[in-house]
Amino acid sequence: MNEVHVKTILSARQIIKDYPVPGGASLRILKGIDLEIHASEILAVVGESGAGKSTLLHLLGGLDRPTEGSVAIGNTDISRMNDSEIARFRNRHIGFVFQFHHLLPEFTALENVAMPGLIQRGDPKTLFNKATKLLAEVGLAERTTHKPRELSGGEQQRVAFARALINDPVLVLADEPSGNLDINNSTSLHRLMWKLVREKGCTFLVATHNRELAKEADRRIELSDGRIRIG
Ligand SMILES: Nc1ncnc2c1ncn2[C@@H]1O[C@H](COP(=O)(O)OP(=O)(O)OP(=O)(O)O)[C@@H](O)[C@H]1O
Ligand SMILES: [Mg+2]
Repeated sequence: MNEVHVKTILSARQIIKDYPVPGGASLRILKGIDLEIHASEILAVVGESGAGKSTLLHLLGGLDRPTEGSVAIGNTDISRMNDSEIARFRNRHIGFVFQFHHLLPEFTALENVAMPGLIQRGDPKTLFNKATKLLAEVGLAERTTHKPRELSGGEQQRVAFARALINDPVLVLADEPSGNLDINNSTSLHRLMWKLVREKGCTFLVATHNRELAKEADRRIELSDGRIRIG
């Protein structure tokens, strides 16, 4: 993929998202979102609870489909792909960090980090070496053989972040990555994530309630009443 060389990493056009409500009607959550994300940019998405931040991230990352509109990542229009094509594209090119880490409980930190690469049938030895390095970069060199339940909440999120980076994604999407942490841990997790994405030159889109942290992003957008308000 040569998309990493183009200036716009993600381009969303007129995204509309309706959710069905009982009785056959539907609720319009996103009302026409146009968004361009540039290469190596850190973009924060803020907005009230229920504004549609998670909905937008899921659409941009191909976890869900818009009712109308299109999403292109690099030169690839993911809205035209079928489900298995999207799944493959996502695993290869996009890293996700969720509010609750979604680590696999029966696997070690190292195995969890390597997993998206193993799914891509990458070389296990190379992947475990890379996962070891990533865990060291997030400050968990001493925790590689721990299972998720043996890690603190902040440590679990750092493992999830290392996992998001294993396939050298062009785009990392983080949805309230520190939502279950106290303010000190939340701040240090964000700082760590931003330092690493800057070092690696990834493009990073983060939905957060934390407006102070959002101010440190390169750019900030606010979702309000289904539309983008530039912040
Ligand atoms: N699967 C669904 N079916 C129906 N409605 C949904 C669904 N998912 C989300 N919604 C509705 O869409 C709206 C936006 O939800 P979303 O989770 O995107 O908000 P958010 O901005 O991420 O909020 P928060 O800050 O609380 O995480 C909410 O009002 C929610 O009720
Ligand atoms: Mg949300």
